[in-house]
Amino acid sequence: MEEDLKTIVLQAEKGISDLHSLPEFESFKAKFLGSNGALTQAAKSIGKLSAEERPRVGKLVNEVKIQIESIFAKALTRIEEAELAKKIGSEVDPTLPSPDGQKGVIHPLTQIRRELDDIFRKIGFTVAEGPEIESEWYCFDALNTPDYHPARDEQDTLYFPKGSDFANISRKSNERYVLRTHTSSVQIRTLLQEKPPLRIIAPGRAFRRDAVDATHSASFHQIEGLYVDKNVTVKDLKSVLDYFSAQLFGNNVKVRLRPSFFPFTEPSFEVDLYSPNLGKLSNKWIEIMGCGIVDPEIFKAVDLDPEIWTGFAFGMGMERLAMIRYGIDDIRYFYNNDLRFLKQF
Ligand code: DAH
Repeated sequence: MEEDLKTIVLQAEKGISDLHSLPEFESFKAKFLGSNGALTQAAKSIGKLSAEERPRVGKLVNEVKIQIESIFAKALTRIEEAELAKKIGSEVDPTLPSPDGQKGVIHPLTQIRRELDDIFRKIGFTVAEGPEIESEWYCFDALNTPDYHPARDEQDTLYFPKGSDFANISRKSNERYVLRTHTSSVQIRTLLQEKPPLRIIAPGRAFRRDAVDATHSASFHQIEGLYVDKNVTVKDLKSVLDYFSAQLFGNNVKVRLRPSFFPFTEPSFEVDLYSPNLGKLSNKWIEIMGCGIVDPEIFKAVDLDPEIWTGFAFGMGMERLAMIRYGIDDIRYFYNNDLRFLKQF
């Protein structure tokens, strides 16, 4: 009996390495552990032994059974892995996540915002924020935009109903509230919170009472810039704009300033860009932003001395930048969440 058990183990060890498929494995296993298998038979024959021999042989059979089961368990793992590898044509690490799940992409507006963050961070700008619901003072008055200015018209600005109260936002009592029409309000908030010299960009959402078409959206995104120090001139402004444009659109872009008007800058400019490699927009001047030297009235509104402090500011539409950069011809693509569009980025 003891000899028989040893032979069973030897046979199992010898035969196991020849097995290469699950059916082969199952039928080989049955020869030992099936109802007519050698080990099952040996276990059954214990009953025929004398009372003295039974405990010793019973123990032995159990030990052999554990040994055989472990031989088969190892072989099963080896065979299953080999079969899987054959199916997919290479060795696999089954602990890795499945490769065929759908991967998301970063929205093009987020991509452009991150790029702008990086570009300006390299020259010492930090990111500032302000609320999307603004009081009229932050959005207009402090930015030297008088009551009669057309931007404040009900046709252009989304006002909250009279009597709305956002106490944590207003600076004066009885103010009216708006959805901010531009990110320029963050200039005022920053100047009230931080001491100059300072350099910030403020990316964020802005709102206007616009009918939606290929180039307009009632909700859109801007990025504001503000640089305040002593003796800041148009030359400083232009060199930052040159740097920024080359970083975003490549070294062979040209940048020009065209005189314009904004209530919060004096002088004010529109910035045009010219590049040989912008697809359909190549080789012509395209307007990309407004900018200028901070008007002394702004410093007065926030209790800074305009005899000491000077600065420049700029503001641009992020959708527009992304449209130029990626050759997108309709602003509505950004908001429709159409995967065929989004997957291209
Ligand atoms: N706030 C302006 C707009 O929404 C853009 C702008 C122009 C911002 C000139 C500025 C600036 O900071 O200096 O059209």
